Amino acid sequence: MEMDHKKTPYFNQVQAYVKRHHVQHDVPGHKGHLDNELSSFIGKKAFTMDVNAPRGLDNLNKPTGVIKEAAELMADAFHAEKAYFLTGGTTMGILSMIMSICRANEKIIMPRNVHKSVISALILSGAVPIFIKPQLDNHLGIANHMALEDIRQAIHDHPDAKAVFIINPTYFGVTSDIKAIVDLAHEHDMIAMTDEAHGSHFPFSQQLPLSSMRAGADMSACSLHKTVGSLTQSSILIAQGPRIDHIRLRSTINMLQSTSPSNLLLSSLDVARKTIYFEGPVKLPQVIRMAADARRKIAAIPGLAVADKAYFQALGATGYDETKIIVKVSDLGITGFDVYKELFDEHRVTVELAETHLILAVLSIGTTKADLDALVNALKKISQKYQKQQLPPLQAKFSYTYPEAYTRPRDAYHAPKKYVPYDQSVDEIAAESVMIYPPGIPIVIPGEIITADILEDLDLYKRSGSVILSDTEGGYIKVVDKDLWFKWEEDHAND
Ligand SMILES: Cc1ncc(COP(=O)(O)O)c(C=O)c1O
Repeated sequence: MEMDHKKTPYFNQVQAYVKRHHVQHDVPGHKGHLDNELSSFIGKKAFTMDVNAPRGLDNLNKPTGVIKEAAELMADAFHAEKAYFLTGGTTMGILSMIMSICRANEKIIMPRNVHKSVISALILSGAVPIFIKPQLDNHLGIANHMALEDIRQAIHDHPDAKAVFIINPTYFGVTSDIKAIVDLAHEHDMIAMTDEAHGSHFPFSQQLPLSSMRAGADMSACSLHKTVGSLTQSSILIAQGPRIDHIRLRSTINMLQSTSPSNLLLSSLDVARKTIYFEGPVKLPQVIRMAADARRKIAAIPGLAVADKAYFQALGATGYDETKIIVKVSDLGITGFDVYKELFDEHRVTVELAETHLILAVLSIGTTKADLDALVNALKKISQKYQKQQLPPLQAKFSYTYPEAYTRPRDAYHAPKKYVPYDQSVDEIAAESVMIYPPGIPIVIPGEIITADILEDLDLYKRSGSVILSDTEGGYIKVVDKDLWFKWEEDHAND
């Protein structure tokens, strides 16, 4: 039966509750009307809407009313059988997917360029990652898709793996052959799960890469807040097919979900679904056309280059999300970090992220032509400024390596620790993840052996002023204290 996507059942119920003007002797403590700087800045309405699941607003942990109805509409829009609303971002979706499928010591095949939430899921579940090296793009200095052959080999070498984890697409918009990977996983009785943090808009235009549900994946976590238009931190987990145990999945989600979910976030999911359902098919092709036009203009600016679908497909990628714009800036002799900062400070233009050689702009149905003109004009000015300085282009680094794993992340996380200065950490086993953020893809994770190459990369990032995320501050890194670690003793008893 066709569903009525004009409906926003959850949001409507919240509005109805607000209009009843209840006297509030329940939480939250702001009671909907407390005056403070925030309420006067954003307006009282946001506070009056922020109520804690009173009667009629259903229960996110066990939906039977308007949340259930809103989730059914969401599932339908995303071609899934079931959708779960999440108020802890796709981070929470990824934790839930992996923890519901993998028990301790069970294997999961995945590319090494996963987001930090995947590493957290490995620590929490105790699963063993079978890492595939993604295709590395030395020209842009980024990691792209997974080669199908590498998945085939990993499945052959680890037929006991429980699942294959696919990024659809990477932060930079690149997709692997998701359909073939899903089919391969299923042929070998493995779950196919996807990180669609950056691909939530895929189901709404045929000009975009294949969405995970269309490709037949079992489950997917999607950041609707990133590319679809809901409020930051609101995401969904969608699932289909007979391989998913929804009782276990629901109980895992409920372990991670707050018992006081924000109904601003939930309302924003409900409304964003309606908007993308009706506007996506019309506006996404327009955004793709505007992005192509902006790419053409940027490519004509001296010292700048762009990477497009043809570029990534020539490197073997299956698809590319053309609502993203990658600009290579390093031929100007400056880094992406420099350009990010200059765009932000001098031109009041914010892009999603910088890497050594590039900047990345993420577009959506909220992007206007004027927004893109502002980016293009600012880039022109930056190019003019640096062209005059005639700096030598930055050289690409031609060997990117990933560290070897000595043990699974959970072992290293729980092992005895010590703290050593970075420059004395070569050959130590990391006990924490270290990454720049964004993109939040760890350079080293717990259990991996630290190399001089990694330290060199980190040093470069530090000097570029990037935000380095790690547990330890002050130039130290947390590593496994091998002298106190029974596993090291056991493994080296006969050395
Ligand atoms: C590839 C990828 N996966 C997962 C996440 C986590 O998503 P969220 O921020 O919604 O928790 C991110 C966030 O940046 C991401 O880039």
